[in-house]
Amino acid sequence: MNTIKSFARSFRWAFHGVAYALSTQRNMRFHFAAAIAAVVFSLVLGIGPLESLWVLLAIVMTIAAELWNTATEKLVDLSMPKRHPLAKAAKDTAAAAVLAAAVFAVAVCIIVFGSVLLDRIMDDAYMSGTIASQAALLGVLVLLIGAVIYVRFAQAYQTGYTRKQQEGEYKMNAGEGRAEELLQHAREAGKRAYAPYSNFWVGAALLDQHGHIHYGCNVENSAYGPTNCAERTALFRAIADGVKAGHFQAIAVMGDTEEPITPCGTCRQVMAELCPPDMPVILGNASGKQRLTTVSDLLPGAFRLTKEEQL
Ligand code: THU
Repeated sequence: MNTIKSFARSFRWAFHGVAYALSTQRNMRFHFAAAIAAVVFSLVLGIGPLESLWVLLAIVMTIAAELWNTATEKLVDLSMPKRHPLAKAAKDTAAAAVLAAAVFAVAVCIIVFGSVLLDRIMDDAYMSGTIASQAALLGVLVLLIGAVIYVRFAQAYQTGYTRKQQEGEYKMNAGEGRAEELLQHAREAGKRAYAPYSNFWVGAALLDQHGHIHYGCNVENSAYGPTNCAERTALFRAIADGVKAGHFQAIAVMGDTEEPITPCGTCRQVMAELCPPDMPVILGNASGKQRLTTVSDLLPGAFRLTKEEQL
Protein backbone atom coordinates (compact mmCIF):
# COMPACT_ATOMS: atom_id res chain seq x y z
CA MET A 1 0.00 0.00 0.00
CA ASN A 2 2.81 2.35 0.98
CA THR A 3 4.71 1.64 -2.21
CA ILE A 4 1.65 2.45 -4.28
CA LYS A 5 1.22 5.68 -2.32
CA SER A 6 4.81 6.79 -2.77
CA PHE A 7 4.63 5.80 -6.43
CA ALA A 8 1.54 7.98 -6.85
CA ARG A 9 3.22 10.79 -4.94
CA SER A 10 6.28 10.73 -7.19
CA PHE A 11 3.92 11.13 -10.13
CA ARG A 12 2.35 14.10 -8.41
CA TRP A 13 5.76 15.78 -7.92
CA ALA A 14 6.59 15.15 -11.55
CA PHE A 15 3.27 16.68 -12.52
CA HIS A 16 4.10 19.70 -10.35
CA GLY A 17 7.40 19.97 -12.22
CA VAL A 18 5.62 20.10 -15.57
CA ALA A 19 3.09 22.63 -14.23
CA TYR A 20 5.92 24.75 -12.82
CA ALA A 21 7.84 24.75 -16.10
CA LEU A 22 4.65 25.52 -18.03
CA SER A 23 3.65 28.42 -15.81
CA THR A 24 7.11 30.01 -15.57
CA GLN A 25 8.82 29.21 -18.89
CA ARG A 26 7.57 30.92 -21.98
CA ASN A 27 9.62 28.48 -24.03
CA MET A 28 7.82 25.52 -22.46
CA ARG A 29 4.45 26.95 -23.46
CA PHE A 30 5.83 27.40 -26.95
CA HIS A 31 6.99 23.77 -27.11
CA PHE A 32 3.57 22.60 -25.92
CA ALA A 33 1.83 24.71 -28.57
CA ALA A 34 4.20 23.32 -31.23
CA ALA A 35 3.55 19.76 -29.96
CA ILE A 36 -0.23 20.25 -30.21
CA ALA A 37 0.20 21.67 -33.73
CA ALA A 38 2.35 18.64 -34.68
CA VAL A 39 -0.29 16.21 -33.33
CA VAL A 40 -3.07 18.02 -35.20
CA PHE A 41 -0.97 17.99 -38.39
CA SER A 42 -0.31 14.27 -37.93
CA LEU A 43 -4.04 13.53 -37.50
CA VAL A 44 -5.10 15.70 -40.44
CA LEU A 45 -2.51 14.17 -42.74
CA GLY A 46 -3.14 10.69 -41.37
CA ILE A 47 0.55 9.71 -41.06
CA GLY A 48 1.55 6.10 -40.47
CA PRO A 49 2.68 4.47 -37.18
CA LEU A 50 6.42 4.77 -37.90
CA GLU A 51 6.12 8.47 -38.75
CA SER A 52 4.00 8.97 -35.63
CA LEU A 53 6.80 7.47 -33.57
CA TRP A 54 9.30 9.98 -34.97
CA VAL A 55 6.95 12.90 -34.21
CA LEU A 56 6.39 11.55 -30.70
CA LEU A 57 10.14 11.20 -30.15
CA ALA A 58 10.68 14.80 -31.28
CA ILE A 59 7.98 16.07 -28.89
CA VAL A 60 9.24 14.09 -25.90
CA MET A 61 12.87 15.05 -26.54
CA THR A 62 12.12 18.77 -26.78
CA ILE A 63 9.92 18.86 -23.70
CA ALA A 64 12.34 16.71 -21.68
CA ALA A 65 15.26 18.95 -22.72
CA GLU A 66 13.30 22.04 -21.67
CA LEU A 67 12.50 20.44 -18.29
CA TRP A 68 16.20 19.63 -17.75
CA ASN A 69 17.09 23.15 -18.80
CA THR A 70 14.62 24.68 -16.32
CA ALA A 71 15.95 22.45 -13.54
CA THR A 72 19.54 23.47 -14.38
CA GLU A 73 18.61 27.17 -14.40
CA LYS A 74 16.96 26.91 -10.98
CA LEU A 75 19.87 24.96 -9.50
CA VAL A 76 22.39 27.45 -10.85
CA ASP A 77 20.35 30.42 -9.53
CA LEU A 78 20.19 28.73 -6.16
CA SER A 79 23.96 28.39 -5.90
CA MET A 80 24.90 31.57 -7.77
CA PRO A 81 22.11 34.18 -7.93
CA LYS A 82 24.36 36.75 -9.62
CA ARG A 83 25.96 36.42 -13.02
CA HIS A 84 29.08 34.31 -12.98
CA PRO A 85 31.05 32.96 -15.95
CA LEU A 86 30.65 29.35 -14.75
CA ALA A 87 26.95 29.82 -13.99
CA LYS A 88 26.53 31.27 -17.46
CA ALA A 89 28.41 28.33 -18.99
CA ALA A 90 26.10 25.87 -17.19
CA LYS A 91 22.96 27.70 -18.30
CA ASP A 92 24.14 28.17 -21.87
CA THR A 93 25.07 24.51 -22.20
CA ALA A 94 21.71 23.38 -20.83
CA ALA A 95 20.02 25.79 -23.24
CA ALA A 96 22.04 24.34 -26.11
CA ALA A 97 20.49 20.93 -25.34
CA VAL A 98 17.04 22.46 -25.88
CA LEU A 99 18.17 24.03 -29.10
CA ALA A 100 19.55 20.69 -30.33
CA ALA A 101 16.24 18.98 -29.50
CA ALA A 102 14.26 21.78 -31.16
CA VAL A 103 16.35 21.55 -34.34
CA PHE A 104 15.78 17.77 -34.34
CA ALA A 105 12.02 18.33 -33.91
CA VAL A 106 11.94 20.76 -36.82
CA ALA A 107 13.88 18.31 -38.98
CA VAL A 108 11.45 15.50 -38.11
CA CYS A 109 8.44 17.69 -38.93
CA ILE A 110 9.90 18.83 -42.24
CA ILE A 111 10.82 15.27 -43.26
CA VAL A 112 7.61 13.57 -42.07
CA PHE A 113 5.01 16.19 -42.96
CA GLY A 114 6.98 17.46 -45.95
CA SER A 115 7.21 14.05 -47.56
CA VAL A 116 3.51 13.32 -46.99
CA LEU A 117 2.55 16.72 -48.42
CA LEU A 118 4.92 16.28 -51.35
CA ASP A 119 3.38 12.88 -52.10
CA ARG A 120 -0.03 14.48 -52.24
CA ILE A 121 1.19 17.25 -54.53
CA MET A 122 2.65 14.64 -56.90
CA ASP A 123 -0.52 12.57 -56.84
CA ASP A 124 -2.72 15.60 -57.35
CA ALA A 125 -0.52 16.98 -60.10
CA TYR A 126 -0.76 13.62 -61.79
CA MET A 127 -4.50 13.67 -61.46
CA SER A 128 -4.45 17.46 -62.09
CA GLY A 129 -6.38 18.25 -58.91
CA THR A 130 -5.16 21.84 -58.66
CA ILE A 131 -6.99 22.96 -55.51
CA ALA A 132 -5.65 20.07 -53.44
CA SER A 133 -2.10 20.57 -54.70
CA GLN A 134 -2.24 24.28 -53.95
CA ALA A 135 -3.39 23.50 -50.45
CA ALA A 136 -0.53 21.04 -50.06
CA LEU A 137 1.99 23.61 -51.33
CA LEU A 138 0.61 26.11 -48.84
CA GLY A 139 1.08 23.45 -46.18
CA VAL A 140 4.78 23.09 -47.09
CA LEU A 141 5.19 26.86 -46.95
CA VAL A 142 3.49 27.12 -43.52
CA LEU A 143 5.70 24.26 -42.32
CA LEU A 144 8.89 26.02 -43.42
CA ILE A 145 7.90 29.41 -41.97
CA GLY A 146 6.83 27.69 -38.75
CA ALA A 147 10.18 25.91 -38.54
CA VAL A 148 12.12 29.15 -38.93
CA ILE A 149 10.01 30.95 -36.30
CA TYR A 150 10.32 27.98 -33.95
CA VAL A 151 14.12 27.84 -34.09
CA ARG A 152 14.32 31.65 -33.71
CA PHE A 153 12.14 31.46 -30.59
CA ALA A 154 14.09 28.56 -29.16
CA GLN A 155 17.26 30.62 -29.56
CA ALA A 156 15.88 33.97 -28.44
CA TYR A 157 14.53 32.78 -25.13
CA GLN A 158 17.32 30.41 -24.26
CA THR A 159 19.67 32.81 -22.53
CA GLY A 160 18.71 31.29 -19.19
CA TYR A 161 18.79 34.64 -17.43
CA THR A 162 15.82 36.76 -16.49
CA ARG A 163 15.47 40.24 -17.89
CA LYS A 164 16.43 41.68 -14.52
CA GLN A 165 19.65 39.68 -14.43
CA GLN A 166 20.41 40.69 -17.98
CA GLU A 167 19.81 44.34 -17.19
CA GLY A 168 22.23 43.90 -14.30
CA GLU A 169 24.84 42.63 -16.73
CA TYR A 170 24.11 45.47 -19.11
CA LYS A 171 24.56 47.97 -16.31
CA MET A 172 27.79 46.28 -15.26
CA ASN A 173 29.04 46.61 -18.84
CA ALA A 174 27.86 50.19 -19.12
CA GLY A 175 29.48 51.06 -15.80
CA GLU A 176 32.70 49.20 -16.60
CA GLY A 177 32.87 50.57 -20.12
CA ARG A 178 32.57 54.11 -18.86
CA ALA A 179 34.69 53.71 -15.72
CA GLU A 180 37.50 55.99 -16.90
CA GLU A 181 35.15 58.68 -18.09
CA LEU A 182 33.06 58.62 -14.91
CA LEU A 183 36.15 58.71 -12.71
CA GLN A 184 37.36 61.73 -14.65
CA HIS A 185 34.02 63.46 -13.96
CA ALA A 186 34.32 62.49 -10.29
CA ARG A 187 37.77 64.06 -10.15
CA GLU A 188 36.37 67.29 -11.60
CA ALA A 189 33.48 67.25 -9.11
CA GLY A 190 35.98 66.77 -6.27
CA LYS A 191 37.56 70.12 -7.15
CA ARG A 192 34.37 71.80 -5.95
CA ALA A 193 34.50 70.16 -2.51
CA TYR A 194 33.87 72.38 0.50
CA ALA A 195 36.25 70.74 2.98
CA PRO A 196 37.94 73.42 5.15
CA TYR A 197 38.03 71.10 8.20
CA SER A 198 39.45 67.89 6.77
CA ASN A 199 41.12 69.36 3.69
CA PHE A 200 40.13 66.08 2.08
CA TRP A 201 38.30 66.36 -1.21
CA VAL A 202 35.99 63.70 -2.60
CA GLY A 203 34.14 63.75 -5.91
CA ALA A 204 31.34 61.59 -7.30
CA ALA A 205 29.81 61.18 -10.75
CA LEU A 206 26.47 59.41 -10.90
CA LEU A 207 25.19 58.10 -14.24
CA ASP A 208 21.40 57.94 -14.59
CA GLN A 209 19.41 55.75 -16.96
CA HIS A 210 19.13 58.50 -19.55
CA GLY A 211 22.90 58.82 -19.65
CA HIS A 212 23.02 62.09 -17.71
CA ILE A 213 25.76 62.58 -15.16
CA HIS A 214 25.00 64.07 -11.74
CA TYR A 215 27.92 65.49 -9.77
CA GLY A 216 28.63 65.43 -6.08
CA CYS A 217 31.35 66.66 -3.77
CA ASN A 218 31.72 66.63 0.00
CA VAL A 219 30.28 69.65 1.79
CA GLU A 220 31.54 70.02 5.37
CA ASN A 221 30.18 71.93 8.33
CA SER A 222 31.72 73.50 11.41
CA ALA A 223 29.36 71.38 13.49
CA TYR A 224 30.87 68.33 11.67
CA GLY A 225 27.67 66.29 11.93
CA PRO A 226 25.84 67.98 9.04
CA THR A 227 28.74 67.17 6.68
CA ASN A 228 27.57 65.57 3.46
CA CYS A 229 29.71 63.11 1.52
CA ALA A 230 30.24 63.38 -2.23
CA GLU A 231 28.20 60.22 -2.95
CA ARG A 232 25.14 61.43 -1.07
CA THR A 233 25.42 64.91 -2.57
CA ALA A 234 25.28 63.38 -6.07
CA LEU A 235 22.38 61.08 -5.20
CA PHE A 236 20.30 63.72 -3.42
CA ARG A 237 20.98 66.21 -6.18
CA ALA A 238 19.86 63.74 -8.85
CA ILE A 239 16.66 62.91 -6.94
CA ALA A 240 15.96 66.63 -6.45
CA ASP A 241 16.54 67.12 -10.20
CA GLY A 242 13.77 64.60 -10.91
CA VAL A 243 15.54 61.25 -11.40
CA LYS A 244 13.42 58.40 -10.01
CA ALA A 245 14.88 56.15 -7.31
CA GLY A 246 16.47 53.12 -8.95
CA HIS A 247 16.96 54.83 -12.31
CA PHE A 248 20.72 54.92 -12.03
CA GLN A 249 23.35 52.97 -13.98
CA ALA A 250 26.63 53.55 -12.17
CA ILE A 251 28.47 55.78 -9.75
CA ALA A 252 32.17 56.67 -9.67
CA VAL A 253 33.80 58.01 -6.52
CA MET A 254 37.27 59.47 -6.31
CA GLY A 255 39.32 60.76 -3.37
CA ASP A 256 42.93 61.49 -2.61
CA THR A 257 43.47 58.22 -0.77
CA GLU A 258 46.32 55.76 -1.10
CA GLU A 259 44.04 52.96 -2.27
CA PRO A 260 40.75 53.49 -4.16
CA ILE A 261 38.42 55.35 -1.80
CA THR A 262 35.80 53.29 0.05
CA PRO A 263 32.40 54.88 0.75
CA CYS A 264 31.31 55.40 4.34
CA GLY A 265 28.53 53.30 5.90
CA THR A 266 25.93 56.05 5.63
CA CYS A 267 26.55 56.48 1.90
CA ARG A 268 26.35 52.70 1.41
CA GLN A 269 22.95 52.70 3.09
CA VAL A 270 21.77 55.60 0.91
CA MET A 271 23.05 53.85 -2.24
CA ALA A 272 21.27 50.64 -1.16
CA GLU A 273 18.05 52.65 -0.86
CA LEU A 274 18.24 54.58 -4.10
CA CYS A 275 20.24 52.39 -6.53
CA PRO A 276 19.66 48.92 -8.00
CA PRO A 277 21.55 46.29 -5.94
CA ASP A 278 23.63 45.14 -8.92
CA MET A 279 24.61 48.67 -9.95
CA PRO A 280 28.37 49.05 -10.46
CA VAL A 281 30.27 51.33 -8.11
CA ILE A 282 33.62 52.46 -9.48
CA LEU A 283 36.05 53.52 -6.80
CA GLY A 284 39.26 55.34 -7.57
CA ASN A 285 42.07 57.43 -6.18
CA ALA A 286 43.94 60.43 -7.53
CA SER A 287 46.88 58.32 -8.71
CA GLY A 288 44.69 56.21 -10.97
CA LYS A 289 44.03 53.06 -8.93
CA GLN A 290 40.55 51.60 -9.47
CA ARG A 291 38.24 49.06 -7.92
CA LEU A 292 34.94 47.90 -9.36
CA THR A 293 32.22 46.72 -6.98
CA THR A 294 28.43 46.84 -6.68
CA VAL A 295 25.92 48.45 -4.36
CA SER A 296 24.93 45.14 -2.75
CA ASP A 297 28.55 44.00 -2.38
CA LEU A 298 29.29 47.22 -0.47
CA LEU A 299 26.38 46.64 1.88
CA PRO A 300 25.05 43.09 1.93
CA GLY A 301 21.72 42.68 3.67
CA ALA A 302 20.97 46.42 3.67
CA PHE A 303 17.97 47.54 5.67
CA ARG A 304 15.04 48.47 3.46
CA LEU A 305 11.32 49.01 3.79
CA THR A 306 10.69 49.20 0.06
CA LYS A 307 10.75 46.11 -2.12
CA GLU A 308 13.78 45.64 -4.35
CA GLU A 309 11.49 45.27 -7.38
CA GLN A 310 10.32 48.82 -6.86
CA LEU A 311 13.77 50.08 -7.76
N1 THU B 1 33.86 61.69 2.48
C1 THU B 1 33.16 61.59 1.32
O1 THU B 1 32.71 62.60 0.78
N2 THU B 1 32.97 60.35 0.80
C2 THU B 1 33.48 59.20 1.30
O2 THU B 1 33.27 58.14 0.75
C3 THU B 1 34.29 59.26 2.53
C4 THU B 1 34.37 60.57 3.22
C5 THU B 1 34.13 63.04 2.99
C6 THU B 1 33.38 63.44 4.20
C7 THU B 1 34.28 64.47 4.79
O3 THU B 1 34.01 65.73 4.22
C8 THU B 1 35.66 64.05 4.38
O4 THU B 1 35.49 63.11 3.36
C9 THU B 1 36.50 63.45 5.48
O5 THU B 1 35.81 62.49 6.15
